[in-house]
Amino acid sequence: MQEVFKPRPNDIMVASFIKSGTTWLKALTFTIVHRKKYSFSCHPLLKLNSHDCVPHIEFYYGLQDEQYLETLPSPRVLATHVQYSMLSESVTASRCPIVYICREPKDVIVSLWHMIGRSEMPFTRAFELFCEGRAPYGPAWDHVLEYYSSSLHNPEKILFLKYEEMMNDPIDGVMRLANFIGFPFSEEEKKTGLVEEIVELCSFNKLKDLDVNKNNGVGNVKIDYYFRKAIVGDWQTHMTAEMATKLDMITEEKFHDSGFTY
Ligand code: A3P
Repeated sequence: MQEVFKPRPNDIMVASFIKSGTTWLKALTFTIVHRKKYSFSCHPLLKLNSHDCVPHIEFYYGLQDEQYLETLPSPRVLATHVQYSMLSESVTASRCPIVYICREPKDVIVSLWHMIGRSEMPFTRAFELFCEGRAPYGPAWDHVLEYYSSSLHNPEKILFLKYEEMMNDPIDGVMRLANFIGFPFSEEEKKTGLVEEIVELCSFNKLKDLDVNKNNGVGNVKIDYYFRKAIVGDWQTHMTAEMATKLDMITEEKFHDSGFTY
């Protein structure tokens, strides 16, 4: 992928560490970009999971099916979990905007354990591995820091979003997202409530109950793990106070010099 993938200048990249709100950000970005193409009553998101609407580029290279990406019409919304430093220069130096979403690590490890660890190990073991930085796509903090510092150096290239802020004020988040990727809402669109409609279509409560998001799978991952609880602070139902303190201390140490906080 590093050697071969060439983004088109009007591609839009959604980036994240796993379990940080990728499914949601994909749905929002796809809906914003294609809002003139699809009506909301028969929208693709009602029939397809957002991972089918927005492909993860590294998965297609892994499957040796990268030609599929070439068949997609522009503007393409594509996604990646790959660390910023591992993206090729063809991506980082291109004009295509990158939108990154991060999430508080205590909620990330809970969500991750439910998706891939629960049948294999107790939560305490998954927690220890996560604290050691042993997780898919590497240590969560390094992933966040790379995109965070790159967004400071190049604010026109990378928009850095926080899951918790998006949950707190999705309307504001959607407007920032639309402005950044070059699809701002007109005054007319705002007046007719389009922003609210997009937030509603992509909301957890709307998407989680659709058949497509209840019964299917993405690869070998059952789809309902992408729509579990969507609660900020669900870590409290899984961690002891000591575990939370340990993870907070790692986070503080990792981000100490960066100016970044959750
Ligand atoms: P929980 O496991 O805490 O419920 P990802 O998409 O990166 O795999 O992240 C999955 C997390 O995002 C899950 O968190 C899931 O419930 C939550 N999520 C999925 N769709 C969402 C939506 N539309 N709005 C908010 N959160 C969503």
